[in-house]
Amino acid sequence: MFNTEFLDIPALDSANGTVSLPGSKSISNRVLLLAALSQGTTTIHDLLDSDDTRVMLAGLQQLGCRITPSNVAPGQPLQITGIDGFLPNNARGQLFLGNAGTAMRPLTAALAVLGGDFEMTGVPRMYERPIGDLVDALRQLGCAIDYLKDEGFPPLKIGQPDFSQLGDAPIQVRGDVSSQFLTSLLMALPLLATDRDITIEVVGELISKPYIHITLELLARFGIAVKNDNWQRFVIPAGSRYQSPGSIHVEADASSASYFIALGAITADATEQNSIKILGVGKDSIQGDIRFIEAAQAMGAQVESGPNWLQVSRGVWPLKAIDLDCNHIPDAAMTLGVMALYANGTTTLRNIASWRVKETDRIAAMAIELRKLGATVEEGADYIRITPPASKQAWKAASIHTYDDHRVAMCFSLAAFNPAKLPVRIEDPKCVAKTFPDYFEALFSLCETERERIPVICIDGPTASGKGTIAAEVAKALGYQLLDSGALYRITGLAASRAGLALDESSEETIAEMALEMPVRFDAQQRVWLGDEDISLAIRSEEAGMNASRVSALPAVRSALVDLQLAFQHLPGLVADGRDMGTVIFPHAPLKVYLWASAQCRAERRYKQLISKGISANISTLLADLEARDARDMNRATAPLKPAEDSLQLDSSQMTIEEVVAQVLSWWQERQLFGRA
Ligand code: DC
Repeated sequence: MFNTEFLDIPALDSANGTVSLPGSKSISNRVLLLAALSQGTTTIHDLLDSDDTRVMLAGLQQLGCRITPSNVAPGQPLQITGIDGFLPNNARGQLFLGNAGTAMRPLTAALAVLGGDFEMTGVPRMYERPIGDLVDALRQLGCAIDYLKDEGFPPLKIGQPDFSQLGDAPIQVRGDVSSQFLTSLLMALPLLATDRDITIEVVGELISKPYIHITLELLARFGIAVKNDNWQRFVIPAGSRYQSPGSIHVEADASSASYFIALGAITADATEQNSIKILGVGKDSIQGDIRFIEAAQAMGAQVESGPNWLQVSRGVWPLKAIDLDCNHIPDAAMTLGVMALYANGTTTLRNIASWRVKETDRIAAMAIELRKLGATVEEGADYIRITPPASKQAWKAASIHTYDDHRVAMCFSLAAFNPAKLPVRIEDPKCVAKTFPDYFEALFSLCETERERIPVICIDGPTASGKGTIAAEVAKALGYQLLDSGALYRITGLAASRAGLALDESSEETIAEMALEMPVRFDAQQRVWLGDEDISLAIRSEEAGMNASRVSALPAVRSALVDLQLAFQHLPGLVADGRDMGTVIFPHAPLKVYLWASAQCRAERRYKQLISKGISANISTLLADLEARDARDMNRATAPLKPAEDSLQLDSSQMTIEEVVAQVLSWWQERQLFGRA
């Protein structure tokens, strides 16, 4: 996951390959609640691991459900033992539900029916998302629910219900604000239907029917056969009782699939036979958003499908502008908004009033952000009309504000395919964690762009100048890859000295061959592996540094390591530190920093570093070693240490690490086309 303030996506050219999508949020949270209310243990496969499912799992644990493992583990099913329709006596407390509407609304309904003393809380945005219609419906039944802040909105206090007045009259609920209200009642009321039919009547037109369809399908899997009377009345039959289906698979999220369907339609050049294959969801899906396929086809996508897979490639180009009622695909329709940037005219998305009460006011958000890219956008109470930038020159490099809305972040990443080849900045990229924590990783794994567009920041300098620490911090701040090129020379030095080779010209070819074959791996924690051995510590000794300096003076060794270094230049970008990053390896890097400090200062820093690790050291020996290494690194014939002509020099002698990082990042920002929002 990109846990950075922003993520700069370089202009992208094309995409090809296969992607496995995470489980659907809507299905995951429904299945969790149904399993929790059921009799028996349910084994859930392919459950989504996201912010919303985590708050749901935590909530269910608080209610007394046994859940193993307690959080979603990759590739491992989760088992949940239900409460069989009754809360344990001691179930009470505060449930924090973040910004998860799919947890807040159904849990409120279930707990209000089950009875118990609960406070339902969340993040500030949750307190702006309406729940009044659901509360009104539950109060008709005799449930005790109070507003703790604003009337009609969470946070809520739930108390003991009184069902003594419960008659046969239908429970009424509004259907035109959020279908989650009806879903919540449909999942809670079977708990009351032990000895009587319960009828729910929808007031006003029911929006987002596809989500109700998912609810009904899943209720059936858990033993509840609801009678659907033309989407207006729903009857839960007397004698209903939740029963675990034993085992259940969560489909991949069809809304998440929309970004990859769009990717196939926008970028995968059919003449190159490029296509995007999507695994985990297909034509047999119970999710309404699967009908996004039809909208994408109407815009020109070519789609093939199987029961649980899709394959998409580009059909017509530019895409065809459409005018579409999107009521049946509210979430995925946002993706059409970005596809519209690549269409041959004005696209209108209608009947999307529900966008205004989602994670953010999505109509307003889409309008503002699409305009930043150069589109002309008209927004109405329940529609949006998008005309793409008039020409290539009319596109603008934009910093996209994401409003803590995962779908805004995901769909705008597709703007990186703009014909003007401008980068796109996505602010707060971690908001995708709501449904798809590794979205950007999945996107980058499929996308290609010209090597020169993948930015590289070079940080070169003498030993102990702090460049390793600075490079790591800068990479972390930008979400970029990190190349510690010194480590490659250190590993080579270590391997050569272990092999008993002389570290000079006499073994040059042998060491170079070793360097080409070394099974080197850097893991996510920046540990360094040589085959199965963690050599992170072994390569950090003073001796390893000196050996590295020796082997690095051998031209054949240097050329053997070139490809390995170039291979670090991945999307979305790279920070590389060493001696010749800016001069030899990445001569076209857009930012080159030459970081130095006086020899005395560097010797003192190294001294403090060693002492803090409990290693005894002597400043004057360190100073002498360091000067010897500087001399060798600067005077060798091949790729000597020197500032690149176009580098910015920074004397860090009097600066803290934070100051140096801030300086490098500010130089980087100055070079970007988009201003910060
Ligand atoms: O940065 P470091 O101390 O880990 O580097 C160890 C040695 O490797 C250094 O003394 C010179 C050599 N080196 C190099 O020649 N070129 C690089 N790009 C990086 C390191």
